[in-house]
Amino acid sequence: MKQSIELEQPFVFTVISGKGGVGKSMTSVNTATMLSKLGYKVALLDADLGLANCATLLNEPVSATVSTWIEGKCGIEDLLYYTSGITLVTGANEPGENKFKPDLFMDALDQVTLYLKQDHDFVIIDTPAGAGEMSLWALDISQVGILVLVDEPTAISDVYRLCKYVFNIDPEYHFASIVNYAESEETAQSTYQRFNTILNYFLNKQTQYFGFIPASDLVRQSVQRQKPLLQMEGPNSILKEFEFIAENVLAYAKNREKTLLKTVH
Ligand SMILES: Nc1ncnc2c1ncn2[C@@H]1O[C@H](COP(=O)(O)OP(=O)(O)O)[C@@H](O)[C@H]1O
Ligand SMILES: [Mg+2]
Repeated sequence: MKQSIELEQPFVFTVISGKGGVGKSMTSVNTATMLSKLGYKVALLDADLGLANCATLLNEPVSATVSTWIEGKCGIEDLLYYTSGITLVTGANEPGENKFKPDLFMDALDQVTLYLKQDHDFVIIDTPAGAGEMSLWALDISQVGILVLVDEPTAISDVYRLCKYVFNIDPEYHFASIVNYAESEETAQSTYQRFNTILNYFLNKQTQYFGFIPASDLVRQSVQRQKPLLQMEGPNSILKEFEFIAENVLAYAKNREKTLLKTVH
């Protein structure tokens, strides 16, 4: 398929939220498969070290993980699982596998990301819940952090505190927002606006709106059947929302490239 926008450089982004169960992995998997459908080479790196579930969402049994690679039980090329049109790499399958010091893991993930960038247009990193070291590693290596917002006080305050923490380390960090479990586009926009107002008022920061995902049985069914939304039969109104998200990611990647080129010259 012809690429709609050429990318000169691979683009790395992270899907993050602070809170668990808000749809990060579901968003990562469906954004990845949508970017692949648009003609791009996409890698999905599951940085949830212990309870990784992108492999489950894609119904792809994974035995070679970054953890087993660190142990010398497989080669780096064995970490790549080609499934649903994307390349999947898994950090660690079992909590017990995650027995290395974070520094060692981060170093290994740095190497894996570099390796994936050689042959992919996009590297998408799915993060665990919380604002732990792995999430910060993922944000650090990414060109944008995509926040998954849900209209619940705990979810919004978790995302806010995550942003505050990151802006303390890097005031210029770039975040974008996606609203999940939205009742409609209007409620999604108002959730986003409310979050942005808080961020603006207290931290003088903004995030860019990348789209929304409605609360829907189809999303639940696709998780149950371990199939990305693109592979679900029948009418599928949610695909256009993922198309919108993917187009926003693309436009953002292209824009960042232009800005970087300007700074280089
Ligand atoms: N838009 C949605 N509509 C319906 N169910 C959803 C939606 N988003 C997520 N879910 C449900 O929530 C569960 C948790 O999503 P997941 O992506 O695993 O969250 P996280 O990675 O943030 O922990 C999924 O298994 C799915 O059943
Ligand atoms: Mg997850």
